[in-house]
Amino acid sequence: MPKLTIDGKTIEVAKGTTLLEAAQQLGVYIPRYCYHPRLSVSGNCRMCLVEVEKAPKLVTACSTEAAEGMTVRTDSEKVKAARKDVLEFLLINHPLDCPICDQAGECGLQDYYMEYSLKKSRFSREDKVRRGKRRPLGPNLVLDNERCILCTRCVRFCAEVTKTSELEVMERADHSFIDLKEGKALDNGYTLNIADICPVGAWTSRDFRFKQRVWFLKKTPTVCLGCATGCQIEAHHNDNTIYRIMPRPNAETNTWLCDQGRMTYKAVQAGDRLSKGVIRNGVIDLEPALREAATRIDAAHSAAAVAVLGSPWLSVEDNAALARLAKDAIKTESFCFDLAAEQGIKDGILINKDAAPNTAGVALVKAAHGGISLGELASRLASGKIKVLVTEARAAAFLKPVLASAKPLLIVFATNRAQIPPEAYATLAYASYFETPGTFVNYQGLRRTTEPAVNAREGVKPLWTLVSKLAAYSGASLKLDSPEDALKGIDFK
Ligand code: SF4
Ligand code: SF4
Ligand code: FES
Repeated sequence: MPKLTIDGKTIEVAKGTTLLEAAQQLGVYIPRYCYHPRLSVSGNCRMCLVEVEKAPKLVTACSTEAAEGMTVRTDSEKVKAARKDVLEFLLINHPLDCPICDQAGECGLQDYYMEYSLKKSRFSREDKVRRGKRRPLGPNLVLDNERCILCTRCVRFCAEVTKTSELEVMERADHSFIDLKEGKALDNGYTLNIADICPVGAWTSRDFRFKQRVWFLKKTPTVCLGCATGCQIEAHHNDNTIYRIMPRPNAETNTWLCDQGRMTYKAVQAGDRLSKGVIRNGVIDLEPALREAATRIDAAHSAAAVAVLGSPWLSVEDNAALARLAKDAIKTESFCFDLAAEQGIKDGILINKDAAPNTAGVALVKAAHGGISLGELASRLASGKIKVLVTEARAAAFLKPVLASAKPLLIVFATNRAQIPPEAYATLAYASYFETPGTFVNYQGLRRTTEPAVNAREGVKPLWTLVSKLAAYSGASLKLDSPEDALKGIDFK
């Protein structure tokens, strides 16, 4: 455990800790470009130079291990001068096109220049080396080689994280540039992380660029519901519109995000977003749609003729509300929250074998409320005894073969038209989990709650409130006044 002093503060660190990491533990920030905590150390940008007593020259803090008795200065005149020189060097061939660069506001070059340099360049604009600009690479990214500072974070990400090695540094010296290897395509499923880790405006997201200036964006911490991994994310939004999803790195689950998860926000503001009810193909207001659904449930004549199926795409609150609908309002025994699915990371990075976000949460609802197995529900449907099935739109697929033959009257909850199964009789629109809080349990058993980033359209409510109304139209009160009411009896351990 070497003990060293950084800017007059003493710290003892684990063997192998670098000066940059030791400084970080002390709360001393050392500027860096090529260093990234999740990538190998490259030590190429020289932005992290620090002064070590008795060392003949400045050393790179990201690649120098802390040693017993070291005295380090991160703020000496020598260090400050070196930072100015490094920035001047990195900007020699920079196109200085900041006014039209989408990285403005979160650019490492702009920020460090303002903080550590403010030095006038001695190199003329006319002598700058020109490189390729605005080159679309893969489905998600655009590359501007002129803005690149050759930190190689993007190259190392593809080599070390996705292990697909699509990128490389071509040519030499000031003619070096990042390029795609011959025969490769930049479509490894995690490409948008490259735009995140590029410290400058060289890699930008095709989906996000020029949609918003980043300083207008508000950030809401929430959870990705793209699969059972349940990555922690931040929704960036302005004026009630979501513009991008960014990772919220955490020790338990994720540093990165998959490209598919990044796009989950699109459904919230998609053209097929539902805000009313649908009876067969006709759109009607939500209240009459709820009344019609309740009438059809009542018309089934006996509780045994109605079934309720939970959904791994719904929150614990909404599944629990459906369980209460079955037990306390309809009073049927034909309800099912038995939706086990194989869980686990399927690609060695993040994407889960289970494409639904809350299979583990549904299991908690089953533990609290009971119910029959999916097989038993399918056979009750096949026997023709069940006349009405209430579920979430995507969950209806669990019973697809039997729905086609048994043809029960299908009542579903959906957020988007694309989710509605062809067999649906009534569809009830509910608020997305970007608009309302919901509890999810990921494949690791970690409980996570979504935070509303935007407001739902007028009249669109959380699913548990629709369930409560459906019960009320059938003459029962579930006493659900809040999401917490729905969670009563659920044991999260
Ligand atoms: S494109 Fe960005 S991440 Fe890649 S080497 Fe250049 S500056 Fe670094
Ligand atoms: S791995 Fe799953 S939870 Fe994580 S970002 Fe991708 S879809 Fe979302
Ligand atoms: S961050 Fe240390 S050399 Fe780049």
